[in-house]
Amino acid sequence: MRLQVVDHPLVAHKLTTLRDKRTDSATFRRLADELVTLLAYEATRDVRTEQADIETPVAPTTGVKLSAPRPLIVPILRAGLGMLDGMVRLLPTAEVGFMGMVRNEETLEASTYATRMPEDLSGRQVYVVDPMLATGGTLVAAIQELIKRGADDVTAVVLLAAPEGVEVMERDLAGTPVTVVTAAVDERLNEHGYIVPGLGDAGDRMYGSA
Ligand code: URA
Repeated sequence: MRLQVVDHPLVAHKLTTLRDKRTDSATFRRLADELVTLLAYEATRDVRTEQADIETPVAPTTGVKLSAPRPLIVPILRAGLGMLDGMVRLLPTAEVGFMGMVRNEETLEASTYATRMPEDLSGRQVYVVDPMLATGGTLVAAIQELIKRGADDVTAVVLLAAPEGVEVMERDLAGTPVTVVTAAVDERLNEHGYIVPGLGDAGDRMYGSA
């Protein structure tokens, strides 16, 4: 597994406002969307392309176009939905799948309650999006399912990560073609599984409800 922390002043600025507890839901959603677009720019650095011969109004030339099969974007419900538009903005031709996962707040174990995506992901590049890499349980379970379906290149785009979650990903996804792209790796997880200092419950802050 490869970890990429995006070091950019605009990323740091938007993340700081997201963290601020005084930021309301509407502003939180807008900033999360902007931040995802910046992270998506880095996350798609290795998106597959192929040569394309075209003609400009002046002369023939050779460029690149995204290769087939199209990339797949998979938001993890519920909070990952708030990151979908930011991803699709940069990859408008991508296909979108969905995974619904919940975390048991006592055991902190993740389980899947809904899946909607192609059975066969052979040869596909997949971008899985979830705002918080906390214990790592949800992302590990989601990525194992994607790899089981044949995905051969998975990039997880998260707003924030905890060192504990990164360690779990490195342990459980060792030797797999997985990259994690994040705006920051914070200090730690607290006893309730929240990232410290973090930004609170991303789903609640996006949607204004528990
Ligand atoms: N999920 C969240 O929304 N926030 C955290 O800090 C950890 C998990």
